[in-house]
Amino acid sequence: MKLPSHIATLSPYVPGKPLEELERELGITGSVKLASNENPLGPSPKALEAIRAVLGDLNRYPDGSGYALRKRIAEKTGWPVEGVILGNGSVDIIEMAVRTFCAPGDEIIIPHGAFISARLAAQSVNAAILTVPVQDHRHDADGMIARITSRTRMIYIDNPANPLGSFMAGDTWARLVAALPPDCLLVADQAYYEYIDREDYPDGFKDLKAGKNLLVLHTFSKIHGLAGLRIGYGLGDPRMLSDINRVRSPFNTNSLAQAAGLAALDDDAHIARVKELNAREMAWLEAQLDQRKVRRVPSVTNFILIDMGREAAPTYDKLLRQGVIVRPIKNYGFPNHLRVSIGTREENERFVQALDKVL
Ligand SMILES: Cc1ncc(COP(=O)(O)O)c(C=O)c1O
Repeated sequence: MKLPSHIATLSPYVPGKPLEELERELGITGSVKLASNENPLGPSPKALEAIRAVLGDLNRYPDGSGYALRKRIAEKTGWPVEGVILGNGSVDIIEMAVRTFCAPGDEIIIPHGAFISARLAAQSVNAAILTVPVQDHRHDADGMIARITSRTRMIYIDNPANPLGSFMAGDTWARLVAALPPDCLLVADQAYYEYIDREDYPDGFKDLKAGKNLLVLHTFSKIHGLAGLRIGYGLGDPRMLSDINRVRSPFNTNSLAQAAGLAALDDDAHIARVKELNAREMAWLEAQLDQRKVRRVPSVTNFILIDMGREAAPTYDKLLRQGVIVRPIKNYGFPNHLRVSIGTREENERFVQALDKVL
């Protein structure tokens, strides 16, 4: 089949290498995966219980709009239920938003080094992607503002940012929000929202409540530990979301994911456990890296970006042979860096031991 050039030049998303694949290739067991910013403590136990309770109904289609989960999110946030949308992972919502609002040639501003799904979605509709270079491993709000034109339909920003691990602080963020033109949607992807504990972190939901045109995204894949189920949600103006609903595929979230999300949302004990483990292990890993003089980018998330000071691919390969999977991020424009997700102490020790051998 003949391909349009914007599809022919589209590189598919490259996920972290699965454990099973590595073990099959190398004929080893007991490897560890610190490559996809997954939750090392597992799924919310309340979510697992909820899944068991609905297994017998799998002959039925799910509730197409996921009303019960949307209603609970609405109750917790104080935002109308019509202003809540579910996605098959938050990437589904990014894709729907791009398909809804961006025609070929329309401009989308995406910072360099931002989570790649927005870029892939934009290219798939042949939108014009305006890339903004990072400054000191942070998204540059003023660079983004400088690129706004009358054709800009969307600005995407992951805050905190993946794979950078940094965040845009409130004063800078406020400038970006103030510069938002009419007919331009600011997508605030807050996948790592629960991990950050900083007074100067700006929750995009506050701007949404203040009447700004934002789509604020959250995921159940990280702190709730439900990445395998694929469920995320977005908060936005109900009229804007009813437009996105035009392109939503029927039953885009499944019944197990909806039930699990509903239970996970209120599993405060699990959230606290995960957060506490992450903070403790992040501090431990930072100290280990500093002792070895491995350069790292300060992180507010559940992963850390390390700078090998030279092409990182050989280090990645050698770590694989030690049974440790991390993430090379050359495709984000960082050929010298590796992204390492925070695991349990045992997993983190495996990484450090393997790194010592490799270095
Ligand atoms: C910034 C960001 N957004 C979205 C996602 C994906 O979330 P989901 O699993 O809900 O599609 C990730 C996953 O790594 C991410 O880092």
